[in-house]
Amino acid sequence: MEGVIDAHTRDLLTRRPGFDWTVTEFVRVVDARLPPRVFLRHCPELDGNVTTPSHVPVVLQLLGSDPAALAANAVQARKLGARAIDLNFGCPAKLVNRHDGGASLLRDPRRVHAVVAAVHQAVGSEIPVTAKIRLGFSHRRLALDCAKAAEDGGATQLVVHARTRDEGYRPPAHWEWIGRIRRHLRIPVVANGDIWSLEDYWKARTLSGCRDVMLGRGALADPWLAPRIRHWLETGEQLPTTPWQVRASTLAEFAALQRSTLPDRVVTSLVKQWLSHMRQRDAEADLRFQAVKRINDLDTLLAGLACEREERGHSRFEPA
Ligand SMILES: Cc1cc2nc3c(=O)[nH]c(=O)nc-3n(C[C@H](O)[C@H](O)[C@H](O)COP(=O)(O)O)c2cc1C
Repeated sequence: MEGVIDAHTRDLLTRRPGFDWTVTEFVRVVDARLPPRVFLRHCPELDGNVTTPSHVPVVLQLLGSDPAALAANAVQARKLGARAIDLNFGCPAKLVNRHDGGASLLRDPRRVHAVVAAVHQAVGSEIPVTAKIRLGFSHRRLALDCAKAAEDGGATQLVVHARTRDEGYRPPAHWEWIGRIRRHLRIPVVANGDIWSLEDYWKARTLSGCRDVMLGRGALADPWLAPRIRHWLETGEQLPTTPWQVRASTLAEFAALQRSTLPDRVVTSLVKQWLSHMRQRDAEADLRFQAVKRINDLDTLLAGLACEREERGHSRFEPA
């Protein structure tokens, strides 16, 4: 997720078993072949086995609209060690769409096909090429055509975020639409959108018929969501609600990792960004967020997250 999930986040989220694979933020391709440093910035794991430290594979994602430029960059990424390329046809950002990238290609399935086919022809015999779509740009009428275009172009897997571009991130996600697509495709289809809990997971699986799901914001809101799903699948038992101390120590480790390369000022806002994802679904995280949101010193912020909180919403912690 652009601006949110980087190599450190991938590392932390995959330390407990749960994820089968992860994807980088998109690397935006306009027309030129990008220098290696751009790929390495988005995917530092290229320097090693292209996995997280817990050996979960990392897939490199490209976003663009020019088939030849995407193919050339896919070749570049493969030379740098990429083990799979994912193509983004889902980004709803106005700037990206204005420049004809992300979900804007869903208005014409032929363009989806052209991009996937070009990248597949360039690298598909060596590494898998996968695709991620939404249900359409402003309507769903082309959803199946776009999905088939990706498959016919050579995609080996398709992730479907069950909303149109115009629906942004507004609930609900139309999981049953993923099922309609899945029934017409031969390649594996992965369900995505609004999976925040074990119950959502099961509902998305049931309505879509997909064996696999992709987690986005839900995994940030609850770093135990993927392990929770895995544990339940393997044992039939439910893990307890993720305790605040687990969230706090995840944020503290995140800060420590980020601090090795970024100034404290930036790390402070990254920690608050992750906390604000947690607070969407957790009352304790929301109280903590309210207590620390104006703190600008990283150590003071981390102390505020780690301290014990007294009842009635008052933190024992008083910022200096
Ligand atoms: C801030 C933000 C950045 C995102 N960046 C990307 C991205 O770079 N590549 C991508 O495929 N999806 C990206 N997404 C979309 C998510 O991967 C996911 O498809 C979407 O949020 C729906 O799933 P969720 O409800 O589980 O979050 C982004 C979403 C958000 C909120």
